[in-house]
Amino acid sequence: MTIDNSSYFIDLENNYGAHNYHPLPVVLDKGEGIYVWDVNNKKYFDFLSAYSAVNQGHCHPKINEALIKQSSKLTLTSRAFHNNVLGEYEKFITDYFGYDRVLPMNTGVEGGETAVKLARKWAYEIKGVPKNRAKIIFVTGNFWGRTLAAISSSNDPLSTKNFGPFMPGYEIIPYNDLNALENSLKDPNVAAFMVEPIQGEAGVVVPDDNYLLDAFNLCKNNNVLFIADEVQTGIARTGKMICCDHHGFKPDILILGKALSGGVFPVSAVLSSNEIMLTIKPGEHGSTYGGNPLGCKVAIAALKVVKDEKLCQNSFEMGNYFRKKLNEYISKSNTVKLVRGKGLLNAIVIDDHEESDTAWNICLKLRDNGLLAKPTHGNIIRFAPPLTINKTEIDSAVDIIVKSLKEFETSE
Ligand SMILES: Cc1ncc(COP(=O)(O)O)c(C=O)c1O
Repeated sequence: MTIDNSSYFIDLENNYGAHNYHPLPVVLDKGEGIYVWDVNNKKYFDFLSAYSAVNQGHCHPKINEALIKQSSKLTLTSRAFHNNVLGEYEKFITDYFGYDRVLPMNTGVEGGETAVKLARKWAYEIKGVPKNRAKIIFVTGNFWGRTLAAISSSNDPLSTKNFGPFMPGYEIIPYNDLNALENSLKDPNVAAFMVEPIQGEAGVVVPDDNYLLDAFNLCKNNNVLFIADEVQTGIARTGKMICCDHHGFKPDILILGKALSGGVFPVSAVLSSNEIMLTIKPGEHGSTYGGNPLGCKVAIAALKVVKDEKLCQNSFEMGNYFRKKLNEYISKSNTVKLVRGKGLLNAIVIDDHEESDTAWNICLKLRDNGLLAKPTHGNIIRFAPPLTINKTEIDSAVDIIVKSLKEFETSE
């Protein structure tokens, strides 16, 4: 008989860690490709991919090889000195995404912070906004992390309650509302509009087809920067290299993170033009680890995997197939209202009750049946497997999802 020692590990976390997360009760020990194994050696489909950080699959051999090779040579110099990897990475990533320059950071939220600082600098030094009057426009439902700058743009009480006072210079307008944007852009002090092309944490909320391009054009007409937060939607997740590629425009500032390193190491990046990027001078912004040779080598390897393994195409095709298969079930379901998403960033909406525990209970059932996913709210479950998943594996995963959902169907 095997002994289930999950509770040992869960108790350790409960007893010695801050209680700032509410994980699904499963203790993972190993990952490979689209699968993870728990401490009892039970195998699961990973349908979260660490919030879209593991797009290339767990422990990808080529990314790990880059990590191991560089880690035994040189890991960190800080930016006090040059190193012989940073420049190579900067050339690689700017060519890859078609930008003049990159500012390397570590986490996604630092990427957002960097973008906001850049936009303010540009507003004062290029656009001519009066001192301390620059404004950044955000939309309701946005999520870009947990720092004070990030939560200051949030309208989610869970993020903001008892953490004030908040950053000034922000305006929050409704998502997917071009009239609201047009109105706000009348203020000549607006520096930038920052938006996730698809809102991940809000529950994979996809805006109207014309929203992003029209919003971009409104920004252009008003000399306002368009900042795309593609920390979750970028790196092939939605079936294109970045989600804005679906809409045929290039954001002025692009924020990437998560899958930039394939889930191996925290690497984020802000990409932009010479005009915008060169407003920041030595000493005005940075990070000890940002641009470290280990992260740079990992990111180069992770980005090569995306192209070598045609992950954009696979994400696009498998995403269409996944939604088609789920829709076949949902059309007959009285539990699930809809499936939405692009590429392999998808979610099912269970009902209208954000406070309900149905999504959580379904995730527990999915776990029992061998698939890991997490609710984004009480009524929404995101499905975002590694982008290496194939058709047979989607079939098996959908079988598990359908089998689990069936237990929650109510007879009418
Ligand atoms: C769109 C978006 N931006 C930024 C972040 C923050 O990234 P990190 O947790 O690496 O700071 C997240 C995290 O989920 C995100 O989804």
